[in-house]
Amino acid sequence: MNTETFFGKASDTLLPVYSPELLLVRGNGSWVWTLDGGKYLDFATGIGVCSLGHSHPKISEAVARQAARLSHVSNLYLTQPQTELAELLLKEAFPGRVFFANSGAEANEAMIKLARKHGNTSGKSEIITMENSFHGRTLATLAATGRKKYREGFGPDVPGFVHAKFNDIDDVRDKITDNTCAILVEPIQGEGGVIPATKQFMKGLEQIRKETGILLLFDEVQCGMCRSGAFFAWQRFGVAPDAFSLAKALGNGMPIGAMVVKEELKDVLGVGTHASTFGGNPVSCAAATAVVELMREEQIARKALETGAFILDALRQMGKRFDTVKNVRGMGMMIGVELDREANTLKQALQKKRVLVLTAGENVLRLMPPLNASMDEVETALLALESALEEIR
Ligand SMILES: Cc1ncc(COP(=O)(O)O)c(C=O)c1O
Repeated sequence: MNTETFFGKASDTLLPVYSPELLLVRGNGSWVWTLDGGKYLDFATGIGVCSLGHSHPKISEAVARQAARLSHVSNLYLTQPQTELAELLLKEAFPGRVFFANSGAEANEAMIKLARKHGNTSGKSEIITMENSFHGRTLATLAATGRKKYREGFGPDVPGFVHAKFNDIDDVRDKITDNTCAILVEPIQGEGGVIPATKQFMKGLEQIRKETGILLLFDEVQCGMCRSGAFFAWQRFGVAPDAFSLAKALGNGMPIGAMVVKEELKDVLGVGTHASTFGGNPVSCAAATAVVELMREEQIARKALETGAFILDALRQMGKRFDTVKNVRGMGMMIGVELDREANTLKQALQKKRVLVLTAGENVLRLMPPLNASMDEVETALLALESALEEIR
């Protein structure tokens, strides 16, 4: 069967919520291949998931080994990979507890339930989230999401969410009421256009936490797992949350999400209050354990910091030569190039040059390279970007 046949089948069988442009069949390191043998440099990494590249031998081996040994028993029984992974994550974060889910939205749902259960004991239930934020596609995470476009047509919104201006601590303070139980923030807004929080804002949130006891929750689904240049993005700001969520790069492609909570909150969700059939399944946990070990052994956070700084600098220099480029920003290897037009134009031009990238919002080109990409690969992407910018000038 050729590529057209598969696209034909897809349009006859799959719900049309996506609009894929390529049929990918194989990946290796920073590269992916189409059915027709087209080779692409992947700086989209499955939306920041394959941070250690495609088909990493150690991760593939961990998956194969665990799948052959025990792939699922549910949480009615304990499995080794889940406890091993939880221990590793807590070592990187702080003393506490971990709940495993299957996706980012699900990890955030767990955090929302944690905040409500904690708040309900004193009659509080409202969560302040940020304008322009993105937290997922389930109904509660949609209501938490600040970007209206995702919520349109799915009303009524789940109640209990109030949106404040991102990076505006006075606005957050204005939105606090006697009913506020938590504040939920992405330390680096991803879908909203790659916008890092300011240190001042994060410190302000920490101060509010100290003064009021309102829980501080971070959504690290996109910016976590070394992407920011630290193991967790909150570590770059020196502000620890009460709980934070992870997903995307945690499994390097195996579906897994996690909520990490501080020791003091370990008993908020007791037996029977929350659950997931697949959450923390042994195969995903074995993959994620290999991911965390590799990230530590290979000092991937430091690599992301250094390579990210190089890319940011190169893009800022490049940006000066093109009026199309309005701003270059980011943190670590989560990088946004704001344009004076729809970023999709540039994305398409790059795709023709066999480089895959993402957009974020309408006008921002988003680069999420593998964190272990070689300097040659980085140079290849930068050259392609420069030539694509020339083309759309
Ligand atoms: C910050 C953030 N939170 C949550 C999600 C939702 O994750 P998932 O698609 O795995 O449900 C995303 C996905 O892009 C995200 O970027």
